[in-house]
Amino acid sequence: DEKKLKKFYIGAIDQGTTSSRFIIFDGTGTPVTQHQVEFTQKYPKSGWHEHDPKELISSVQECIEEATKKFTEEGHEVSEIKAVGITNQRETTILWDTETGEPLCNAIAWPDTRTTAIVRELRGRDGANELQDICGLPLSTYPSSVKLIWLMRNVEAIRKAYDKGRLSFGTVDTWLLYHLNGGKEKNVHITDATNASRTMFMNLHNLEYDDKLLKFFDLDPKKIKLPKIVPSSDPEAFGSIASGALKGVRIAGCLGDQSAALVGQQGFTPGTAKNTYGTGCFLLYNVGEKPVISKHGLLATVGYTFGRERKPVYALEGSIAVAGSGVKFLMKNLGFISHSHKISDLAATVEDNGGCVFVTAFSGLFAPYWIDDAKGTIFGITQHTERGHIARATLEATCFQTKAILDAMEKDSGHKLSELAVDGGMSNSNLCMQTQANIIGIPVNRPAMRETTALGAAIAAGFAVDVWKEFDELKEINQKDRKIFKPEISSEQSSKLFKKWEKAVEMCRGWED
Ligand code: G3P
Repeated sequence: DEKKLKKFYIGAIDQGTTSSRFIIFDGTGTPVTQHQVEFTQKYPKSGWHEHDPKELISSVQECIEEATKKFTEEGHEVSEIKAVGITNQRETTILWDTETGEPLCNAIAWPDTRTTAIVRELRGRDGANELQDICGLPLSTYPSSVKLIWLMRNVEAIRKAYDKGRLSFGTVDTWLLYHLNGGKEKNVHITDATNASRTMFMNLHNLEYDDKLLKFFDLDPKKIKLPKIVPSSDPEAFGSIASGALKGVRIAGCLGDQSAALVGQQGFTPGTAKNTYGTGCFLLYNVGEKPVISKHGLLATVGYTFGRERKPVYALEGSIAVAGSGVKFLMKNLGFISHSHKISDLAATVEDNGGCVFVTAFSGLFAPYWIDDAKGTIFGITQHTERGHIARATLEATCFQTKAILDAMEKDSGHKLSELAVDGGMSNSNLCMQTQANIIGIPVNRPAMRETTALGAAIAAGFAVDVWKEFDELKEINQKDRKIFKPEISSEQSSKLFKKWEKAVEMCRGWED
């Protein structure tokens, strides 16, 4: 069987916040070749974060070309690639002219906080309190809706396109699908339900656009073209690649990166959770076939929806805006390290945080706090403080927020997690994962192959083309050589640390521009 599984391949495009990659997996879920490209992060003003929509496309195309070249050089044939899946950074908002296909501005990336004032205004509107019950998300700077409002109010070309009824809206999945299918000629305008659940335009209960939501955000659906919502795994809906090395290969899966990681970690059973330490860090907890609307600062979102006779599966999500981006900040802005992976070595030069707490609130604080006007703040600096202490405090910031999210999740679900599956860049750090286990008091379980996001996209595509038919067939994938980090400090010690963090969170409020 293993031999048979090795004979076919599935490609996965992973368009993340700081880099794009294309990975070709064999049928056992093992990456065969891959290519990764970092692209430009634009921070034109404090709190602003943009991407060039064309660079997102060209970076993905470059990855496809390079990885496929390596694949064929290793003696494989393109025809052995059965399908391609897409996974992407979520919420990031792109607008283009329906007739020309040209983007009308840079993409506003998900951590961007220029919308703080708009969010405050919207919170005062009639119906603001009902939004979360419909779409699962609280009003904050994070979802696409508020980014779109900002663009409509501030970019003339967008307002004009809207008035003329030629404004097309998309999240990154939609933009990629539009281009991979050949652009305006085919005019494929589509999104999957996991991505749509991050816009605030979709009703979480029926997975359709909701008039009440659109009205709340002053959108006339006749003037703005919203992508059609489809399941995350489908043999036809996503079309096929129109040009380049993979011309003609079918796109059969598409899901937001955090949903993909849940699938890649095989979080198919209600009560399982995964935490992905990427640019940000996102904990998704499978709640089954009915959404649970959080009362404790979490989001309700679509976990995945594999279509056909399968019901959608929902998740509770705890979103942390800064994880790997905190490490990058130490590297690029402060020059502490020359490469992200050196953070562990720097943190290991000291025994503990030396009394430092770093609230890495570069985008305000997300779950479960939702403090828009928080700014990054380091507490507890003395003459004793070294770079190592700040490195530790940076890693710990994500670990503490994960602890706060788990506490909220326990309250919302009435269930205490017994183990946390982890992946993503920062999970490579043993020191960070040990710290995480210490802070949450339960084991942290890390797979050997950490490209679970891309793997999830490959699984979604594989299901659509019947490479796999039941989740059970996946159970061997990525199970070997997992590493378990067990808590090594007492619960008294960890709650003492956490109390200090909570105090720091309270003190970082109110830093308005
Ligand atoms: O919601 C934003 C998320 O999808 C971004 O993921 O891995 O790029 O931090 P990542």
